[in-house]
Amino acid sequence: MSIKRTDALRVAVLASGRGSNLQAVIDAIEAGTVQAKIVAVISNKKEAPALERARRHGLSGLFVDPKPYAGRPDSREAYDRELLTVLRQQDVELVLLAGYMKIVTGILVEAFVNRMMNIHPSLLPSFPGLDVQKKAIEWGCKVAGCTVHFVTEGVDEGPIILQAAVPVLDDDTPDTLAARILEQEHKIYPRAVQLFAEGRLRVEGRRVFIEAGKPERESTRSPS
Ligand code: GRF
Repeated sequence: MSIKRTDALRVAVLASGRGSNLQAVIDAIEAGTVQAKIVAVISNKKEAPALERARRHGLSGLFVDPKPYAGRPDSREAYDRELLTVLRQQDVELVLLAGYMKIVTGILVEAFVNRMMNIHPSLLPSFPGLDVQKKAIEWGCKVAGCTVHFVTEGVDEGPIILQAAVPVLDDDTPDTLAARILEQEHKIYPRAVQLFAEGRLRVEGRRVFIEAGKPERESTRSPS
């Protein structure tokens, strides 16, 4: 039985770059289509535009420097331990990876089982990893897309929550295809967060089931 929330879901976003997915989630929260509160935006890159976006919206944008840990055999785990401390201080319930260019370790994964999501610009399990729009074109795919999934220790391997497909056009370049996919990313990531906030995601093994919305939901607004 899911418990009806009276407070907003506490979300943290980890981002290394541009932050357009962060922006999409911020916009959806501000528009009232996502009932959540971003309590921390954290980056491993000091100059990440994502941090700037956060601050523009009055959100805490925190740079956590990986350098002090570099060279240690457990550098990634030690870094994640520091992140975990911040996430716990903020009582974070859901972590969103949004263009976070660092592999998360078991330290974070185990602390946020089925409570950490990632967005990836391919129809997983095709094309995990990097440069995936280019790979989709080179492979001759007719359809590409994006995936929101829960994060497990295997990169881009966790249970799939939502996907959206787009056509691959004959004259697509990696950039034009990436832009078409990105439009869909900006729709499905906020939608996945709202489904989580409503307690409607049920994970069974690799499968994520979306349970029917409850008519007695607190909000009168529905996700787009
Ligand atoms: C997006 O394409 C996302 O799917 C991938 O990294 C990119 C991040 O873009 N994981 P942005 O920083 O959200 O604009």
